[in-house]
Amino acid sequence: MITTLGNDVKKTLFQKSMVLGISIIFCSLTMMPALSAAPLTEYPLPPPQHASMIVEESMFRRMSVRNYTTEPVTDQDLSTVLWAAYGLRADGNRTVPGMNEVFASIIYVLKEDAVYTYNPWNHSLVFYKEGDYRHIVGWQYNAPIQLGLVWDKNISSNQNYAAAELGEIGQNINFMADALNLGTVATGERPSPLENLGLPSNQIGLIIIPLGHPVKPYNFVNFPFWVSFLPRIQKSDMNLTTVLEKRQEKTSWENTTLSKQEQTQLVWSSYGYSNYYDKSDSDRNPVKRHRTVPSAHEYYPLLIYLVNKTGVYRYIPNTYNPLYGLLRDIWFLPVMTGLLKVTDGDKRSDVAQASESFVASAPIIIISVLDVKQTKKPYDDVSGEDFRWLWYYEAGASAHNVLLEATAWNLSGTIVQPTNLSALQSLLRLNEGQVPLILVPVGK
Ligand SMILES: Cc1cc2nc3c(=O)[nH]c(=O)nc-3n(C[C@H](O)[C@H](O)[C@H](O)COP(=O)(O)O)c2cc1C
Repeated sequence: MITTLGNDVKKTLFQKSMVLGISIIFCSLTMMPALSAAPLTEYPLPPPQHASMIVEESMFRRMSVRNYTTEPVTDQDLSTVLWAAYGLRADGNRTVPGMNEVFASIIYVLKEDAVYTYNPWNHSLVFYKEGDYRHIVGWQYNAPIQLGLVWDKNISSNQNYAAAELGEIGQNINFMADALNLGTVATGERPSPLENLGLPSNQIGLIIIPLGHPVKPYNFVNFPFWVSFLPRIQKSDMNLTTVLEKRQEKTSWENTTLSKQEQTQLVWSSYGYSNYYDKSDSDRNPVKRHRTVPSAHEYYPLLIYLVNKTGVYRYIPNTYNPLYGLLRDIWFLPVMTGLLKVTDGDKRSDVAQASESFVASAPIIIISVLDVKQTKKPYDDVSGEDFRWLWYYEAGASAHNVLLEATAWNLSGTIVQPTNLSALQSLLRLNEGQVPLILVPVGK
């Protein structure tokens, strides 16, 4: 009996240990790889803050900051800057329009401990690799955070348009950083120091943006233009977060004309000078009047055209421009801004034939044109096709500003790529070295 009972117990124990053994083998084959995959790879960011700065104030204050304190950037501020840069809005759309709604950018976030990428879908940081790469990648300027703007070639094959999208992103980073009392500067080099991160072969690093607290606090003096052929720039009542949330791309418009004030606001936002003087660096640079977009080497080689029912006009951001580059520190020179008529009559359908048909119904079309000779300077010739993306970055920033300013004035527009360059060149009376880059039709 005892023996029989002993055999039964042995049999049961054997069966149990078999089940346990098989279970352990099964678990180790199926679950363990999942458990052993990198610890926690996604780090949720806190919800972004609301920026109450009025959008024209953001444009007045846009400037590059190159010296940062060692004070860390809080996760809260980083979250807000990344959301503005490339985040998702309450309606599911992005905070930037992209180029034809193709979103081909990746933002790398370089922190002290590691490198991450920004995941807009769940507003988190995704671990990429361990180590402090901030000084290797962002060697130009030390900052607590370095943002690497990267073009994903698998999503868009066009480097220039990818750079234009980065220009939109860079602009939002600059505006939001300033609203949080942080500073940034867009930096672009070839080859990009972002290559040190060992990026996948489809990813091309183009722009690095340090982010930190400025050593010299922002110090602006409100000093609007003395003389102007256009009405003075006014502030709307729309703040930065609302504008980023509300921007809508439209391709049809009411058959109305825009007021002179509205047209001035739009064309100014594309490439104009600030109403403010910057005195933050007054020991070295007594005063400086910044423009609404940054420019590599401060070349500002874009020409801006405005087409409406009455004709084609060239925007003159400052009559003294040729001298202003040399004499910008002579602060008492007035900035005289205006529109120069190039052609009489309604040419909007001609512009539409050289781009998209819906452009013909827009009350105004703003066109950025690259004047290649202005990028060919003796100390750094960046006029070649290899560098063309730098100027698309600037044109993307300019076009994005127009869409933000349109939103603030309850207007809307969209970004359009030219399809017939020579037709546009003859319409705008350009020479061969003046290349139309981006069109922005806007209306009600
Ligand atoms: C595409 C691009 C690349 C730039 N690259 C650099 C750079 O490598 N280093 C730098 O200090 N500034 C760089 N800048 C910033 C410009 O020098 C700056 O915008 C210009 O001097 C005007 O000054 P502001 O932005 O303060 O008004 C770049 C700007 C752009 C748009």
